[in-house]
Amino acid sequence: MRVAMIGTGYVGLVSGACFADFGHVVTCVDKDAAKIDRLNAGRMPIYEPGLEDLVAANVRDGRLSFALDGADAIRTADAVFIAVGTPSRRGDGHADLSYVYAAAEEIADLINGFTVIVTKSTVPVGTGDEIERIIRARRPDADFAVVSNPEFLREGAAIGDFKRPDRVVVGIEDERARPLMTELYRPLNLNETPILFTGRRTSELTKYAANAFLALKITFINEMADLCESLGADVQQVARGIGLDNRIGSKFLHAGPGYGGSCFPKDTLALVRTATDAGSPLRLIETTVEINDARKKAMADRVAAALGGTDLKGKTVALLGLTFKPNTDDMRDAPSLDVAPALMAMGATVQAFDPEGMHEAAKLMDGVVFRDGPYDAVEGADVVVIMTEWDQFRALDLDRIKLLLKQPVMVDLRNVYRPEDMKARGFHYSSIGRPESAR
Ligand code: UDX
Repeated sequence: MRVAMIGTGYVGLVSGACFADFGHVVTCVDKDAAKIDRLNAGRMPIYEPGLEDLVAANVRDGRLSFALDGADAIRTADAVFIAVGTPSRRGDGHADLSYVYAAAEEIADLINGFTVIVTKSTVPVGTGDEIERIIRARRPDADFAVVSNPEFLREGAAIGDFKRPDRVVVGIEDERARPLMTELYRPLNLNETPILFTGRRTSELTKYAANAFLALKITFINEMADLCESLGADVQQVARGIGLDNRIGSKFLHAGPGYGGSCFPKDTLALVRTATDAGSPLRLIETTVEINDARKKAMADRVAAALGGTDLKGKTVALLGLTFKPNTDDMRDAPSLDVAPALMAMGATVQAFDPEGMHEAAKLMDGVVFRDGPYDAVEGADVVVIMTEWDQFRALDLDRIKLLLKQPVMVDLRNVYRPEDMKARGFHYSSIGRPESAR
């Protein structure tokens, strides 16, 4: 099948490359000429494990190409995917759909023969209806169906998530889209992946409901971690104790500094707005958003507490990891963006290292001193803070870290190390939701 993918951001690029790998002929289209040039030169605009090789292999085999002008690709496509950004609209938290609607208008002018138009971008309920209206108004003669097919890709594991998903959700209003969408995902039949066909609005809401539930789950365990600290219990054991119950499940029960990233913060907020506008407020999710925002900010206080006060004048803090999670260079809504300024506001000097995120971080973090490696970052610091659980921070040479620090203090916001080991090595170690006595 022939696919045009509008938008070569994270979702568009991964989805385009994976559809090509499934055997379809895919053209990824983007208005950003520099990005298309880079992609044509084989360089990726984002860091995602395995993506560069996957793109190279499919370009070589002639199934994947990149274009600034999507006209040819859209005219000949069986399916046109909209995978443009839907950022939070400034001021009100609603999803900004201007890129989606602009894409719809462009597609309207070009489609030729029966074409399925698929939203991959995360869009509020009813967006598919509006896309249909836009295209119909511009091209009353066009033969098309608008479909919702949300992505559930985790950054850092996106290719695996695309090729081995737990499920695929497809929202259709026109039955003619069903065989075409089934054919697009046919390689997943091998793994017997459930393909769930629903109505379009249901599919749009399913995406938000999934992200909101996961954000809620993380927030639940984060609050439980605070309670564990007050009561002398261990949140990791609580998480295991509840996670082994199949009804609860063990995933997304890792306590930390609060969720970040390109999806959870934006999507929970957009869902809250949608629900309020619909007169059916989601109080659980409203509270989740509030708790998570406050939590990210509060992490700096933990660092100050580890140094025995609230004033960090003259102190140097080493941050290891800046991205919102490992294996990405994405800094969107990363907890480090709250923590670093708060530390500096308390008087600290912040020196930091991240394996992939420093280029992005440098644009967003005024005043932070960026260092070349973890040991560089730690040198001369009063405390080392693990912000992101990159693999290379899981196996640090702790004796070397101890020598480089002014005092052996570690704040581990990802529970990478074991309190008893750190104590044995002579560190003052504080982590999330684990008993005071073991710290
Ligand atoms: C998420 C969804 O998982 C994916 O399905 C969706 O389509 C896009 O959003 P992503 O943002 O890439 O993916 O990362 P994810 O692995 O879900 O982590 C999100 C945030 O939650 C990170 O900041 C992470 O550190 C945090 N998190 C996750 C926790 O704090 N604890 C956990 O147990 C899991």
